[in-house]
Parts: sequence; C-alpha cells; structure tokens
Amino acid sequence: AGTGKFFVGGNWKCNGTKDSIKQLVSDLNSATLEPDVDIVVGPPFVYLDQVKSSLTDRIEIAAQNSWINKGGAFTGEISAEQLKDIGCKWVILGHSERRHVIGENDEFIGKKAAYALGQNLGVIACIGELLEEREAGKTFDVCFKQLKAYADAVSSWDNIVIAYEPVWAIGTGKVASPEQAQEVHVAVRDWLTKNVSADVASKTRIIYGGSVNAGNSAELAKKEDIDGFLVGGASLKGADFATIINSVT
Ligand code: G3P
Repeated sequence: AGTGKFFVGGNWKCNGTKDSIKQLVSDLNSATLEPDVDIVVGPPFVYLDQVKSSLTDRIEIAAQNSWINKGGAFTGEISAEQLKDIGCKWVILGHSERRHVIGENDEFIGKKAAYALGQNLGVIACIGELLEEREAGKTFDVCFKQLKAYADAVSSWDNIVIAYEPVWAIGTGKVASPEQAQEVHVAVRDWLTKNVSADVASKTRIIYGGSVNAGNSAELAKKEDIDGFLVGGASLKGADFATIINSVT
C-alpha cells in the first residue's frame, strides 16, 4: 500500500438471499474495522436497498453494473441515476465476468464508466488478462488496451479506482503472488504517467482482486503499489472480509 487511502471492496456477485444478507450485514455491523480504509460492498441489485438501509454508514455500497446512458426503454438495465437515488456511491465496471461471460467490450465499458462518473458515482474500473494471454506474454498489452478504453472515454480520474484482477486468479484459489501483482500495478501506474498524467498516476489507487482471502491479504498489502483489494468469495464471510480490511499496512 502506498497511494491514497487503502480501499477494500467486496463483490458479492450473484450470491445471497434476504436472510443470508441480513446475517452478513449484521456481522459487518459488529466487526471492528480499521478507520483508515475506504470500504464498499457490492450486493446484487435486488438487495442494494436492503443493504443500504441496514448496513453501517461506515461501509458504502456499490452496484455491480450500470447502464451506459440515462434510463428509459432498456429492459433489464439499471441506470446510474437510479443507483444514486437509492444512496449507492460506487459501481463496479469492466469485471472479467461481464467481459468474458456476458461479452462486454472495451469501448462499451469505457462509455459506461464515463456515464457513471458523470452522475457522480465512483467507478471501480476492472482490468485483467486471461491465463492464455499471460502465458503468451501479453499481460501488459491486454491491461494497457483495457486501460486505454477507460482513458479515451473519461474526462477525470478523480473518482476512479483501478482493480487489477487477473482472470486466472478469480475464484480459482490461485492468488497472484505479491510480486506478480506488484509488477502489473507498477506497469499500470507507469502507463498512467505516460498516457494520462503524473498527477493521476500518483493519486489513483490500484487495487488487486483474485482469490484474496484472510490468509494472503497481509502479504499482498505490504507491496508499495497494492492500494487495496477487490474481494469476491471471501467478502461473503464477515469475519474474513474484516480481516482483509484490517490488513492495511
Ligand atoms: O471482483 C472480485 C473477484 O472477481 C475476485 O473473486 O472470489 O477470486 O475473490 P474471488
């Protein structure tokens, strides 16, 4: 950790029921959490309101997606305006599951990010390479291409947190080593220096996601350019998520 306030997001993905979420919220409300950390959780859309009204104000809520433009005749979509309306402060965009399972492309994701920022939502902008891309030595190329799509679309980086999530590490139990993550985070920061500005590079938090758990977060957090985490599976357990939050150094 080295840039800005440590940032930990819990991406609940398509998990939970009213009852299980009630329990998770209660666990989070009673957890002891380090004060100097920005914390957000991203429940599925249908539970956002439940979580917003029951969760401590210490933790902000994030949506897992938002529409590319203002609402209207877009069946099944949720607009950034609607997210704002229920007190949501953040949105996760460009997650690998939306890129590779749903088929969202770089340009579409960049435009969504720009629209959400325009509505004053913070954007957790995900990037990351597939295993075959890593093995082919294309990790930086892939990450830079995804970054460029955000850079081309947005006019300010003030409310963006970049989440580096190597796809081979997501949900697999194969966490990137602290060195592997650090190497990409430094490359991302260099890219920002060269292609956006030194100011943005020095202020933008770059968080790591992919099999982060209560046992490996402390080692990762020691790395200079790992400014927090985006946590999937382990964020569904209040005690583990609290441990990860408290691994801030
Ligand atoms: O967005 C977080 C994520 O993709 C990582 O998931 O389950 O490997 O922590 P997980």
